[in-house]
Amino acid sequence: MKNAIYEEIESLLELDLNRKYKVLDIGSGQGELLGLLSSSMKSESFLVGIDAVENSVESAKDNYPHLEFHREKFIDSLSFEDDCFDIVVSIDTLECISNKCALITEVHRVLKPGGKVVFSHWDWDTQVYNSANKSIIRKFVAAFSDWKQDWMEASDGQMGRRLWGMFEGSGKFKGKITSFTLLETEFREGKYGFDRLRDLSNLVEGGSIEPTEYEMICSEMQNLSDKNKYFYSVNSYIYAGEPA
Ligand SMILES: C[S@@+](CC[C@H](N)C(=O)[O-])C[C@H]1O[C@@H](n2cnc3c(N)ncnc32)[C@H](O)[C@@H]1O
Repeated sequence: MKNAIYEEIESLLELDLNRKYKVLDIGSGQGELLGLLSSSMKSESFLVGIDAVENSVESAKDNYPHLEFHREKFIDSLSFEDDCFDIVVSIDTLECISNKCALITEVHRVLKPGGKVVFSHWDWDTQVYNSANKSIIRKFVAAFSDWKQDWMEASDGQMGRRLWGMFEGSGKFKGKITSFTLLETEFREGKYGFDRLRDLSNLVEGGSIEPTEYEMICSEMQNLSDKNKYFYSVNSYIYAGEPA
């Protein structure tokens, strides 16, 4: 599923296989995006991912030993020189950062003139589950969207819809916004809608979702799936731009 977004980002970058690039991924996780991008550029390119979590950095290094990954938690500055990257990318990380305006300013500072920025973000309030229990499912979607998980310093379930304003409204970038809709009709482990519903069991434990409501929705989804009526979708928004 994530692969589709990585491919979308790759196509927005319009990479030249014969060119050497310097690329930064902010919140690089397991390194998959940089792994994909590295296969579409000259091998002398320099790709570096930063992430706040040591385990993610270590897995990214194991997964892609030819790329660089550093543990770096963004607070209000990036540890790179001015005008040093051709491309800065980031997926689903901006919502976790408290000082978002500082990050936009820093992305502008480290990008070369004419460089490209691509940020994508889910917008959790756009999650759609086909359910006859309208008020409960609305409550679940809102609860997920408002949930600040322990590893996040900040959260904004509506980050996707704010990407355009964050970049374009800063006056520092000119670009365009596109959307990606994930659609699923299968309810099983490994599918995004299934896994997100399973994540919500944490809120049952935390007391903000009633266990009876949770069980009812899970069994409704299973029943719908058995009858080929299960439907899930969620939108991600992708900003692609250049320094203004
Ligand atoms: C939702 S994950 C997305 C990971 C990856 N971009 C992907 O698409 O799979 C968000 C990532 O941002 C990292 N992160 C959160 N806050 C951060 C911060 N302040 N500085 C750097 N990384 C951060 C997390 O550790 C996590 O790996």
